[in-house]
Amino acid sequence: MNQLDDEHIRPVRIDALAFGGDYNPDQWPEETWHEDIRLMKEAGITMVSLPIFSWPQLEPEPGVYDWGWLDRILDLLHEAGIRIDLATATATPPSWLLRAHPEMAPWDSEGHRLEFGSRQTYCPSSPVWRENVARMTRAMAERYGEHPGLAMWHISNEYGDHVSRCWCPVTAEHFRRWLQDRYGDLDGLNEAWGVNVWGQRYTSWNHIETPRKAPGPVNPTQLLDFERFSSDAMLELFRIEIDVLREITPDIAVTTNFMSMFRDLDYWDFAAVEDVVTDDAYPEPADPTSHVGAALNYGLMRSLKGGRPWLLLESSASATSWRDVNVPKAPGKIRVESLQAVAHGSDAVMFFQWRQAKYGQEKFHSSMLGHRGEKSRSFQETKALGNELKRLEPVRGTRVRSRVALVIDWDSWWGSSAIESLPSQRLQWAQQARAWHRALYALGHPVDTVRATGPFEKYDVVVVPNLYIAETPQAEALRAFVESGGHLVVGPFSGVVDATEKVHDGGAPGPLRDILGVEIDEQWPIADGLAERLAYGGDSLEVLHWAEWIEADADVEVRGAYATGVLDGLPAVTRRTVGAGSAWYVSAILQPEGMLTMFRDVLRACGLPARDDVNVDAEAVTRADDTTDYTFLLNHGASSVAFTLPAPGVDLLTGADSAGVVELGAYGVAVVASPRAASVPFVTINPVKETA
Ligand code: GAL
Repeated sequence: MNQLDDEHIRPVRIDALAFGGDYNPDQWPEETWHEDIRLMKEAGITMVSLPIFSWPQLEPEPGVYDWGWLDRILDLLHEAGIRIDLATATATPPSWLLRAHPEMAPWDSEGHRLEFGSRQTYCPSSPVWRENVARMTRAMAERYGEHPGLAMWHISNEYGDHVSRCWCPVTAEHFRRWLQDRYGDLDGLNEAWGVNVWGQRYTSWNHIETPRKAPGPVNPTQLLDFERFSSDAMLELFRIEIDVLREITPDIAVTTNFMSMFRDLDYWDFAAVEDVVTDDAYPEPADPTSHVGAALNYGLMRSLKGGRPWLLLESSASATSWRDVNVPKAPGKIRVESLQAVAHGSDAVMFFQWRQAKYGQEKFHSSMLGHRGEKSRSFQETKALGNELKRLEPVRGTRVRSRVALVIDWDSWWGSSAIESLPSQRLQWAQQARAWHRALYALGHPVDTVRATGPFEKYDVVVVPNLYIAETPQAEALRAFVESGGHLVVGPFSGVVDATEKVHDGGAPGPLRDILGVEIDEQWPIADGLAERLAYGGDSLEVLHWAEWIEADADVEVRGAYATGVLDGLPAVTRRTVGAGSAWYVSAILQPEGMLTMFRDVLRACGLPARDDVNVDAEAVTRADDTTDYTFLLNHGASSVAFTLPAPGVDLLTGADSAGVVELGAYGVAVVASPRAASVPFVTINPVKETA
């Protein structure tokens, strides 16, 4: 893997916070471009992304290029001082390519070939597609690699958005080669897949298929390997473009835009080969707490490259058009949501898209410049935001301070969600991760994310909502963290199987057993509609869906015990002192209130503060450089909130001194600059007041 260290990371060529959006000039007559540029300047735009879906306009016939229009608009943008996030234009194939090579179309799991007429009509494994992608990327790099407006390369677009898995014959061939690389010979594969169960021994590589509809549940390791393979196949495609760009433009940063916490691609691997992480974020406007999920998504984005700033490359100025019901954003929401991304380490606020489309699939998707033009609310609000962002210039390049990290492990995500035969389908990896994050968020902590092998040194507390697949290197890294004084919290159904999905000897938690000091006798799912209780301190917490029969070692302290049902009296939440730190095990799925009770106890026992008053609308995140803390206070709700800061400072947005208590009205934001504190500033809140 092409792991990049600091020296090899190419900087994005922009000397301001990036503000702008996707720009599709080829959907408009050239007269409109001049109006675009005028309004972009008015709105404070510093960067736009193009020509993402324009391959057919750039190469209308095989080998015949039409660069003229792109030359002209790039020059206009550059003259206006607007930087260019230049797409390689490989997000979608031209029709002539697909018609000449029908075998490059993707197939779904039922064996249907997907037709032209939308976008991304390609199989990620297709050699024809890969060759053409390399050719187009080369042509783009040769033509524009020295363009003075070029800020970075934007490779493809949202890999896997529509097609992340393909079941065509070309993919099946590729899957077999991937398996040969992984297992060497058929004996290795048969051993790994545990084929003696249900008589699945393979005697020829050609007998192996991508997992399809079969008479009954499919081999779990075959399913898991297909997830791994599919992520790797897309990564190979990404690397083909990276290699071409590195050859021709070795100093220009490369990226591909992610889709927040996206199950299908292992973003740790993708981030390792690019220069800068970029993300597209579409919190659901109809969900009043969607900013909580956004906080975890952004925690992942900043963590993918060790805390370096990332770029919010797409978001919506108001409604999307791909949901069943597309609710617009209330006035003020655009601002607070955008600044939330900046709070979490983004050096950009960008939108899909600059000018609202007149035709096509996305004409009802909001844009910076709505159908009403300059008068549109989205233009007025984004323009105000663009101009306000200039005041936040000091935060560019700074990093988020966090004491807590959450382990995200794609193998465990896939393993526990691709498989049909599990103790229960109610324990969902992503739901667990989000529920654990939500509690930590509500208790006042911004949460980073980290691989199961670390690095953990930066953190006081590392939480592992689920590590279904656990191997020795992960257990060793976690043990080293705890021994040196860290605090570890591990969730249910962890340490169950190894990387080939074989249950660890002695059962769960496998290699985590000697850290946690517990053994799981049986997983104990709870039937739908029923609930159990757990006694925690003086509280009684509800348990739904999942419990476990635990036996704990003598040196393990029981913090919470089951209080009902067959498990009555058995440990449910345990804590053990290990070296200078502690290791906790949580065996049940707790409900939101119970999560708060438990995590408040965990945080305080680990010496970290936790909020008494909880209001998920009130968020505080600190970015810092060596000398200054910039504490973002965000009110995501419509009622006012009073935040109490540990130290006074100056609000970058208003220039006002803040004496320590900052009251913010509906969707209010303050960014308080103060001298860098020794420990991460912890902001508390007072109960929500009624708006006048
Ligand atoms: C993204 C995509 C954009 C646009 C946007 C609409 O997934 O990258 O091209 O379709 O969604 O929300």
